[in-house]
Amino acid sequence: MQTIAILNQKGGVGKTTTAVNIGAGLALLNKKVLLIDLDPQANLSYSFGILAHELENTVYELLNGETELKDVIIKHGNLDIIPSNLSLSGAEIEFSSLPGREFLLSERLQSAQDYDYIIIDCSPSLGLLTLNALTSVNEVYITLQTEFLPMQGLAKLLETVDIVRKRLNRNLEITGIICTRYDSRKNLHNEVYEKIKQYFGNKVFKTVIRDNISLAEAPSFGQTIFEYRPKCRGALDYENLSNEILKRGKING
Ligand SMILES: Nc1ncnc2c1ncn2[C@@H]1O[C@H](COP(=O)(O)OP(=O)(O)O)[C@@H](O)[C@H]1O
Ligand SMILES: [Mg+2]
Repeated sequence: MQTIAILNQKGGVGKTTTAVNIGAGLALLNKKVLLIDLDPQANLSYSFGILAHELENTVYELLNGETELKDVIIKHGNLDIIPSNLSLSGAEIEFSSLPGREFLLSERLQSAQDYDYIIIDCSPSLGLLTLNALTSVNEVYITLQTEFLPMQGLAKLLETVDIVRKRLNRNLEITGIICTRYDSRKNLHNEVYEKIKQYFGNKVFKTVIRDNISLAEAPSFGQTIFEYRPKCRGALDYENLSNEILKRGKING
């Protein structure tokens, strides 16, 4: 089993889009995938057409012990999803003085053994929820937008992963960098991509995710890109990325 957190404390850098569509891409390659929405904004849940605000069983109730793993999973085709909603927004404070608060999720996931991939969509913060993601996985994928110089803020992100590795999860490693919203016609994008490659070397996936309007539209139809526009550039890019992930295999843990 490969366990991956999709991380970046910046919002709007393609974390959720990537979690949804590599989850769906790997499922199309016949892999058994569990996707976990760990963002109170619940964008991942809504991307699958799940009416998150109406749910009584979400990742929040899983974390606080009110519900069990099997009762919280929602199916989308052959994908398993643990949804979130706004109730999760109080978790950072509510759980802050609990002993073992960084391990709530990893404990609840002990029974999730039949998956090839567990993929966690993180919220744009480096707080307690994200720490829970980082103690539940062996691998971190960082999404970086080539539209901006992404190096700002990256130091803090790398430092956080480092601290978690030293103190809470020795198996944790950044194994993948995914460049998103790439536009080859713009010089800045090429420059940024080269910078990222210089810095992260072969951790950077060869597949870059190009800017593609269908990727932005699909969530409002509750569909993955493979359902919404299976022939568009976005579907092709995420198909290629999913193949690359599969080919790389398990790097860590
Ligand atoms: N490759 C892409 N091309 C076009 N729009 C994209 C692409 N990736 C993401 N988006 C859009 O950008 C916005 C932010 O993406 P999202 O995946 O929600 O980021 P995050 O989860 O990091 O906040 C969303 O509206 C999404 O639909
Ligand atoms: Mg998101």
